[in-house]
Amino acid sequence: MAKRIGILTGGGDCPGLNAVLRAVVRTAIAQHHLECFGILRGWRGLLDGLATPLTMDSVSGLLPRGGTILRTSRTNPFLSPEGPGVILANAKRFALDAVIAIGGVDTFVVGERLFREHGLPVVGIPATIDNDVGGTEYSFGFDSTVNIAMEAIDRIHTTAESHDRVMIIEVMGRLAGWIAVHAGVAGGADIILIPEQPIALQDVCDAIVRRHDRGKDFSIIVIAEGVRIADREKAAPVFQSVPADEFGQPRLGGIGQAVAREIEKRTGYDTRVTVLGHIQRGGSPTGFDRVLGSRFGVAAVDLVRAGRFGQCVALQANDIVPVPLATAATRRTVPPELYEMAKSFFG
Ligand code: F6P
Repeated sequence: MAKRIGILTGGGDCPGLNAVLRAVVRTAIAQHHLECFGILRGWRGLLDGLATPLTMDSVSGLLPRGGTILRTSRTNPFLSPEGPGVILANAKRFALDAVIAIGGVDTFVVGERLFREHGLPVVGIPATIDNDVGGTEYSFGFDSTVNIAMEAIDRIHTTAESHDRVMIIEVMGRLAGWIAVHAGVAGGADIILIPEQPIALQDVCDAIVRRHDRGKDFSIIVIAEGVRIADREKAAPVFQSVPADEFGQPRLGGIGQAVAREIEKRTGYDTRVTVLGHIQRGGSPTGFDRVLGSRFGVAAVDLVRAGRFGQCVALQANDIVPVPLATAATRRTVPPELYEMAKSFFG
């Protein structure tokens, strides 16, 4: 049975990471008399040998705190042939019987390979604002981001109306449109554009013109950063830099401006863009994320105690269940039915 657990947070941060850390550490120490070690800066901490003991005191007051006290990075240890060996050696040096990896798809791609190819005893917890981790209906962090974006859309609504403007709100999510669909529906967007459903710009312009012809003088468009416009050059997303990180993920951003310029040119309507950016990732988690994170944390410690490695905790039909890390390491995108539902409110 595992005695000492190493815990790391990898990838982009999100609200609720500290709440999960608290849940893992409290459950492990107070209920099961296990020891906890915090691995610093995601997988990089196991490469560099950076870990520190975590006590009940270390996690006191963490429930509402944004970010991650363990820090994070987008380190890919498989970039160098020595990487996995160094990770195993450091896990041994710190006498870790298990590693709980908290993060998104890229964190699990690494965790799954370290488990399958090198026998590292890994358990995953899905954390990402993008909500794109395979096998779980919700990752924590997502709900907080949706609420931040919804509030922003509410505010933009009032100024859009005052000025008779088309307002474009660009949200994050990489190549998945979960944030855009949920925040767009919650905020009453007139059009939502997501990467899963490439759309022709002329169709967007026609929809706005029809809406204005019906007597509405303003429009709210929520656009996901990874959107591809079908009649734009190569129908590719707008990249700020390629590649941006060690997993080859490009940095996205700028599609809102590109679409705004075209809308203004083709319709003549005054158009403005708001890029929500990292505001979406900062600050305190919602109640939903605090509870989900707490449930995930307790369940992950249970998996460790049961020796069920190579698994990730997941939410399915409101139950916490284990799914293989290999499943969590795949990207889950917005199904057409959900987008169809969102379209009922367009125009
Ligand atoms: O994966 C979370 C996320 O916020 C994406 O939605 C976004 O594309 C990316 O991270 C931004 O990453 P960074 O903070 O490294 O610029």
